Amino acid sequence: MFGKRAGAASPKRAPTAPATAAAAVNDAPKSATPAPQVPHKDAGAEKRRQPKAAPVPKRTVSAAEPGGRSEEYYAVKTTIFNALIDTIDLGQLARLDQETAAEEIRDIVTEIISIKNVAMSIAEQEQLLTDICNDVLGYGPLEPLLARDDISDIMVNGADDVFIEVNGKVERTNIRFRDNAQLMNICQRIVSQVGRRVDESSPVCDARLADGSRVNVIAPPLALDGPTLTIRKFKKDKLTMDKLVEFASITPEGAKVLAVIGASRCNVLISGGTGSGKTTLLNCMTGYIEEDERVVTCEDAAELQLQQPHVVRLETRPPNLEGAGEVTMRDLVKNCLRMRPERIIVGEVRGPEAFDLLQAMNTGHDGSMGTLHANSPREAMSRIESMITMGGYGLPARTIREMISGSIDVIIQAARLRDGSRKITHITEIIGMEGEVIVTQDLFVYEIQGEDADGNIAGIHCSTGIARPKFWDRARYFGLERELANALDESEA
Ligand SMILES: Nc1ncnc2c1ncn2[C@@H]1O[C@H](COP(=O)(O)OP(=O)(O)OP(=O)(O)O)[C@@H](O)[C@H]1O
Ligand SMILES: [Mg+2]
Repeated sequence: MFGKRAGAASPKRAPTAPATAAAAVNDAPKSATPAPQVPHKDAGAEKRRQPKAAPVPKRTVSAAEPGGRSEEYYAVKTTIFNALIDTIDLGQLARLDQETAAEEIRDIVTEIISIKNVAMSIAEQEQLLTDICNDVLGYGPLEPLLARDDISDIMVNGADDVFIEVNGKVERTNIRFRDNAQLMNICQRIVSQVGRRVDESSPVCDARLADGSRVNVIAPPLALDGPTLTIRKFKKDKLTMDKLVEFASITPEGAKVLAVIGASRCNVLISGGTGSGKTTLLNCMTGYIEEDERVVTCEDAAELQLQQPHVVRLETRPPNLEGAGEVTMRDLVKNCLRMRPERIIVGEVRGPEAFDLLQAMNTGHDGSMGTLHANSPREAMSRIESMITMGGYGLPARTIREMISGSIDVIIQAARLRDGSRKITHITEIIGMEGEVIVTQDLFVYEIQGEDADGNIAGIHCSTGIARPKFWDRARYFGLERELANALDESEA
């Protein structure tokens, strides 16, 4: 193996001749077999680059300072990284499998460290090796964040500013990238895996990581302070309704009512602000779908994880560089109707597809669901109305409202409160029209009562005392009226 050969050659040389890392490593293959696994760049190129890899004075590096890495660590890492890049041929490296490539890199880096006389503890060296392997083979400084399951969002605002969301709270990290070029490179690496690209000419891009995390990149010149990357981490253990109850996002009785709503095929709209838990709630609600129902899901970036056997998943497609080939949410929802779905699930309703979803709900696809951005159930209805108005269907407002009241049964409102907790703040049903106005009634609401000593919001979920919701008959049709009555009784108590 190349690195190992280099390792054999260098110790003799390092103390006497202060050979550069690049040269030392590059010499190695000559003294060993002629066909190294990771071929190097041509010798001429090596010579041109040699000054870069000049020996550095012996120094100590503290890699593992509490909470982050020191300036000095970054400086040494950059020197060693540059020497490594000068030494190996990245094209060839890419052809190796991940494990072999990592081994090669570790060998070479260890060699460079010893040649450059950098004094490091074993732990620090291990840290540096991991960081450099992540830089070359993975997503660099993002790797440790991607590995953590308690992080829900990673927000990179240029090379020096990386924020994360943990437990509903956004905090700054001391993770940083070498420079914006490295960050851009990593963004490029992420989006190229789903066949897209991001650069000055097409600076906005959505993508997905291999693990399912949702990614958005916006690059300069649109992003003024460097490439901006936002990742909604994919939770391996998806939250279930039981977990939401455990987190006090909803009461056990409220969860039972939601179970009846889901199982009795009410048409549901989940409304909430950004990151309030809409998709999570939608995913939980799909848990009440029967195994024998045919479900079609339409999403911009597939996030839902339905457990049923009969699910067709569809995803929209942005236009290509020539501006052609776009497939919109509306195209998907319309196409869905020809796929004999029993339920249609729309990840996020944000445009004219609202019309097609309502039509589907109205025409025998009971139990369809979707999410939308709105801060209250009432606002959700007016958002739907304006989406349809702006879709250019030429329908009068009253007709649109009749459509809304005739198709949506329940609106579930999610919210992220200022203490970072996520709550289901309303379970509201639409009961009809009175004149020009859609009439709704709340079944459950969350009332904020104050704040405790730690700054956490104190509040309670309370039932509004409605004993017979409008979907009672529907629940009875599905044999669920007893469950519904019990859940409502318990919540009143
Ligand atoms: N009730 C909850 N308690 C704790 N964490 C939650 C809860 N609901 C959702 N989360 C977490 O919050 C994050 C955001 O959730 P989710 O993706 O469902 O939000 P969203 O409203 O769909 O966001 P967006 O508007 O970006 O689509 C996820 O990491 C999720 O695991
Ligand atoms: Mg979402």
